[in-house]
Amino acid sequence: MIALKSPSEIAALREAGRVVANALAAVRAHAAVGVSLLELDRIAATVIADAGAVPSFLHYQPRSARTPYPAVICASINDAVVHGIPTDYRLADGDLVSIDAGAHLDGWCGDSAISFTVGTPRPADLALIAATDRALAAGIAAARPGARIGDVADAIGTVARLEGYGIMADHGGHGVGRAMHEDPSVPNEGRPGRGIALEPGLVIAIEPMLIASGRDDYRTDRDGWTLRTRDGSRAAHAEHTIAVTASGPLILTAA
Ligand code: MF3
Ligand code: CO
Repeated sequence: MIALKSPSEIAALREAGRVVANALAAVRAHAAVGVSLLELDRIAATVIADAGAVPSFLHYQPRSARTPYPAVICASINDAVVHGIPTDYRLADGDLVSIDAGAHLDGWCGDSAISFTVGTPRPADLALIAATDRALAAGIAAARPGARIGDVADAIGTVARLEGYGIMADHGGHGVGRAMHEDPSVPNEGRPGRGIALEPGLVIAIEPMLIASGRDDYRTDRDGWTLRTRDGSRAAHAEHTIAVTASGPLILTAA
């Protein structure tokens, strides 16, 4: 079931989204060679707590997971695509870092992710991150009233495939509201004109995950959460929570 949100509910979702944006900005500002992923997790935890919000990922356990998620952020490094659990690993020169964060404020959720490099970047990583950001922007631009979920999915997938990148088939975006994961699901590849119609009040997270090698295969780590590319090539992730409004898409997790 898809629950459309009222303008006042969208305003509340915007405030939750702002907390997530601030947490991601703080993590990015602190991320550097030698900094551990647990330190980054603590920074996000502090920003979220100081805003009077609650981390959405901590203890989250979908039916598909064997264990509750044990941290505030996901920190997915190099060949990790998404859902990397922060450890005492210290960032190394040239690492490709994807950080995903979620927070609940006054009962409403925001969910967003960014990718960046630390130290001296590999040119191929910068190209992959730029394509992922472009895929996200294309998906957001397609989220207008009158369009369909398939138009958003096609916009994302077209950017990825044109540049030769892989896509994880059964992972993508989702509705957002009081819960982090609501209907509908928002695939990262699809057919224009298919799927549910986008109406003002629909709030969704759009989250392209692109694989450098162009292959789509991935595996789950022994930790039960981290998804890695099967061929060891690098991956990038970008995500915003957005609202469909009469005047077009509104990014709720912008800084
Ligand atoms: N953006 C991620 C997603 O929608 C956030 C979930 S991370 C989890 O899958 F650890 F909480 F599951
Ligand atoms: Co998400």
